[in-house]
Amino acid sequence: MSRPTYYITTPIYYVNDKPHIGHAYTSLACDVMARFKRMQGFDVHFLTGTDEHGQKIEQAATKAGIAPQDFTDQVSVSFRDLADDMGFSHNDFIRTTEARHKSGVQELWRRLEQAGTIYEGGYEGWYAVSDEAFYNEDETEVRDDGKRYAVASGKEVEWVVEPSYFFKLSAFQDKLIELYESQPDFILPASRRNEVMSFVKGGLRDLSISRTTFSWGIPVPGDEKHVMYVWLDALANYITALGFPNEEKDSQYGRFWPADLHMVGKDILRFHAVYWPAFLMAAGLPLPKRVFAHGWWTNEGQKISKSLGNVIDPYALVEKYGLDQTRYFLMREVPFGNDGDFSASAMETRMNADLANAYGNLAQRVLSMIFKNCDGAIPTPGTLTDADEAILASSGAVLEKVAAQMEQQAFHRALEAIWGLVSEANVYVDEQAPWTLKKTDPARMRTVLYVMANVIRRITLLAHPFMPTSTAKLLSFLSETGEGGYALASFDAMLEPGIAIDKPSGVFPRYVAPESEA
Ligand code: MSP
Repeated sequence: MSRPTYYITTPIYYVNDKPHIGHAYTSLACDVMARFKRMQGFDVHFLTGTDEHGQKIEQAATKAGIAPQDFTDQVSVSFRDLADDMGFSHNDFIRTTEARHKSGVQELWRRLEQAGTIYEGGYEGWYAVSDEAFYNEDETEVRDDGKRYAVASGKEVEWVVEPSYFFKLSAFQDKLIELYESQPDFILPASRRNEVMSFVKGGLRDLSISRTTFSWGIPVPGDEKHVMYVWLDALANYITALGFPNEEKDSQYGRFWPADLHMVGKDILRFHAVYWPAFLMAAGLPLPKRVFAHGWWTNEGQKISKSLGNVIDPYALVEKYGLDQTRYFLMREVPFGNDGDFSASAMETRMNADLANAYGNLAQRVLSMIFKNCDGAIPTPGTLTDADEAILASSGAVLEKVAAQMEQQAFHRALEAIWGLVSEANVYVDEQAPWTLKKTDPARMRTVLYVMANVIRRITLLAHPFMPTSTAKLLSFLSETGEGGYALASFDAMLEPGIAIDKPSGVFPRYVAPESEA
């Protein structure tokens, strides 16, 4: 029987600048989800990529003094590198300047046209190049500097007058509301769903979907003076990457569309939860199952911005704290969906308390005791006591709790559940004190170590999607190689006594501030 599929996407990133923490964050959340689903046995397709057309990119290229294609070729590589350097497990990386994308988007346009949802007109109104978004006057404000800005994003707007094609978005108001009402999980978290719902209930205006004042974009089929509005171009990546319009049952599109999850930041929710489903409805294509909008990071309490010079570089974090430590912090510190603040002290506390002390020490103490005192192999247990049975039962039950939280993208709660087990395991091992039993009752020591080895294995399997490298190393000490992925199907299995274990070494170092910082 073929495995169930799971299709997850990141937004495609603008290539006007180098990647920062926001880009790493959205993709990390997808990576954790993708890895967990693979461990559950799903055939996962994880897509990321770069958004390379539009006025914003054209302006950035002009500023850099190079042709847009050369510019995007250069910057796109830095996003590809970031994905590799952060250990993301994507299956595909799409660039909107690729031929496979261009032909797919043009086909989508034709379908919208055939459905009678496109008409020709003229746009006259406010536009923010930084957001690539049109705004009503009441969504903008004039600030002290005399310039006008979009209230939601704080980006400057300019007055635009140009011939344009329009999409009949207004015709989809009722259908969209019906979608949000009949599928309450279509937009998560719930607070964001309410925001979108009231925006749509407030009335939708038709959307300008082509531009004529610059040329860096995909030409409108049949009227090449126009290039497509970059958001129509960009959103279509989720299907063009799967080979749309090849809709054969066994094609990638046939197997993976509709997407299970579009992960986005809160700033781009409207595009994904209003425009995208409306385009798909108009073209008669199935709708994605969920759009999750996460919050934004601030830096030591301040909004992150280039002008303040406080942009967080993901590479700097990884270099200072380690890749898995950074991944853990970003997923643990903030309830996923809320805004959160990055502070060095919070990062260092988590790294030392949760990772080095609670988890790392526990694993290191137990595995090295086994290695030294049980002939380097998983010991044979004697009769289990109530305490042994209790900790084994807790470790078995945590899978279900974690799976339920992951289903809702509550990554922080999944980690909370795993670390609840870590605490319980620490209490157990302190109470059982195998280091004392070594002298008084070696047979009982072996039982305790056997129980602990199993508990550590389960903790480590569940922590794997969050911290793939360190956990793979820990599991390898237990001779679990994870070929083909660490399957959760064998989560409940117990380690076989007698299997040799490798000499363990510390996996989660403590953070010690360099002297210059102390
Ligand atoms: N190109 C569009 C998306 C098109 S998808 C069809 C775009 N690109 S972007 O490069 O601006 O990247 C956006 C992603 O980074 C968003 O999910 C956004 O929310 C996220 N972040 C940007 N700054 C952020 C923070 N300070 N904190 C967390 N995420 C933030 O939008």
